[in-house]
Amino acid sequence: MSTLFVNACVRDGSRTEELAGFFLDRWKDEVREVNLQRENIQPLNGLTLTLRDRLVEERMEDHPLTRYARDFARADTVVIAAPYWDLSFPSSLKVYLEAVSVCGVTFRYENGVPKGLCRAERLFYVTTSGGPVVRDFGYSYVRELAVSFYGIRRTERFCAEGLDMSGADVEGILAGAKGEIERWFERNRKEKGGAVV
Ligand SMILES: Cc1cc2nc3c(=O)[nH]c(=O)nc-3n(C[C@H](O)[C@H](O)[C@H](O)COP(=O)(O)O)c2cc1C
Repeated sequence: MSTLFVNACVRDGSRTEELAGFFLDRWKDEVREVNLQRENIQPLNGLTLTLRDRLVEERMEDHPLTRYARDFARADTVVIAAPYWDLSFPSSLKVYLEAVSVCGVTFRYENGVPKGLCRAERLFYVTTSGGPVVRDFGYSYVRELAVSFYGIRRTERFCAEGLDMSGADVEGILAGAKGEIERWFERNRKEKGGAVV
């Protein structure tokens, strides 16, 4: 089993990355990280869109334009870490999702309806915010893509909220979010008789 860790954290000392690390330590699977700061994936343009279509037709999934989608489709679990930026997430994650949403690799159309081609059953989304989160458009969007396009039906979100509010007890808030992660593992271990599946 292998977990794909999509790291969309930006800052040194990122609290989101810390929270995701806490989760991954407990998840205990082989983890392969895609660090979006290092990858520097470019948005599609007219040329690369045409080229990508041709690569998919010719089943050339080792090319930089198709391999993110291939790796995403093959992962057994996906974990995304993304700070809450401008009511959603950093644009590097949008560009990554654009690179992953390849018809013929992560999904296909059946009578105009997308059908998922991804192996993963679960997607975890880890985030932290500076203020209160009224609506997390980032998670809603990722969840909809996961369910409707990729065929990943089970999604879960962990969040440490309000870290930049004046007087915020940052360590206390993070400890609270870690406690939630611990409880999630306890619940799921109980349900599954020891192992998280
Ligand atoms: C560019 C940018 C946009 C942000 N937008 C929001 C926002 O819309 N709402 C909010 O509550 N916090 C916002 N924040 C604060 C971050 O969500 C908060 O600092 C978060 O914990 C950052 O995560 P990190 O420690 O992993 O970098 C923003 C921060 C940055 C740098």
